[in-house]
Amino acid sequence: MLYTRVCQVLGIRYPIVQAGMASYAGPELVAAVSNAGGLGLLGGVDRDVDNLERAIDAVRERTDRPFGVNLVLAEPHLHKLDLLIAARVPVIATSWGDAAHACERAHAAGLRVLHQVNGEQEAARAVRAGVDVVAAQGSDGGGHIGRIGTLALVPAVVDAADGTPVIAAGGIADGRGLAAALALGAEGAMLGTRFLATQEAPVARAWKEALLAAGTVDAWQSPVPDVVWEVAWPGADSRVLANDVIRRWHGREAEIPSQREQIAALIDAAKEAGNVREMVAYAGQSVGAIHDILPAGEVVERIAREAAAVLRERATLVEREPVAERGGSASA
Ligand SMILES: Cc1cc2nc3c(=O)[nH]c(=O)nc-3n(C[C@H](O)[C@H](O)[C@H](O)COP(=O)(O)O)c2cc1C
Repeated sequence: MLYTRVCQVLGIRYPIVQAGMASYAGPELVAAVSNAGGLGLLGGVDRDVDNLERAIDAVRERTDRPFGVNLVLAEPHLHKLDLLIAARVPVIATSWGDAAHACERAHAAGLRVLHQVNGEQEAARAVRAGVDVVAAQGSDGGGHIGRIGTLALVPAVVDAADGTPVIAAGGIADGRGLAAALALGAEGAMLGTRFLATQEAPVARAWKEALLAAGTVDAWQSPVPDVVWEVAWPGADSRVLANDVIRRWHGREAEIPSQREQIAALIDAAKEAGNVREMVAYAGQSVGAIHDILPAGEVVERIAREAAAVLRERATLVEREPVAERGGSASA
């Protein structure tokens, strides 16, 4: 079975992390992933302190394994950080900002910090801040993303991290993706979209089914959601399913501000109604490799098993005799 430094540092069995995805990553999902030997991350960005405290309690009612909570540092987060420290949440998973303060507080309390970055300079800054694990998030991913694709980003971040363990995020949905991340020098993977298509994810059934129906080309990088919600995280766009509302406004962002409140209200109402054509349904390009809605624990086990099988099978390629010795001749 796979075991890397990330397993050791985070206290988990498999180097598989379920991404913090705001309130789309709820206690049932987090606990199911952690119980299966991965690391579940509760989303923290759109919960207030009381809601977050209740959600942490709900995770603890369901698992005694390590888990984490995601905080977006570009948003007000200091009261939430106080809560995570007081509640002794094992892993504080930060993104979109400077992790130095979170590291100082977490390490003084004996807790770990996993910080997500979108470029190698950011990775170097995170390592200087003392993070325990760096997540390199490629623009293939769902939700808020940067500009560099996972395949190019991960090795650059591994080099910049200078020995601090790295996990890859963005576009990974199965064991092949985890094996590829390991080949790039990462020591694990963080998956968001794959875990939305699970029984425990608290999102509309229609959203989960739309993930199964979608192909890689259907997950668009678009500024539309952030223009509607007036979110400005430095360097971030969103990757979402290209549904009716996104296709209607993509490329016409300048027209949004004058009708912003009405558009936001329609999107919120669509979310309430589970209308996947008119809501903002975040999704990564990994949708192309998602074909079933499974229990989250089964996703963890399947990915770990598949990745080990892929690595064993690919290793046999190295042992093959050189082409020339097989009698083949290449003519130019
Ligand atoms: C529905 C959804 C919500 C997300 N919300 C957050 C968030 O609140 N904070 C964060 O740091 N990343 C968030 N992300 C990004 C994930 O942390 C992760 O980088 C991404 O899901 C990896 O790509 P993948 O979706 O292809 O697996 C979100 C992703 C999705 C799909």
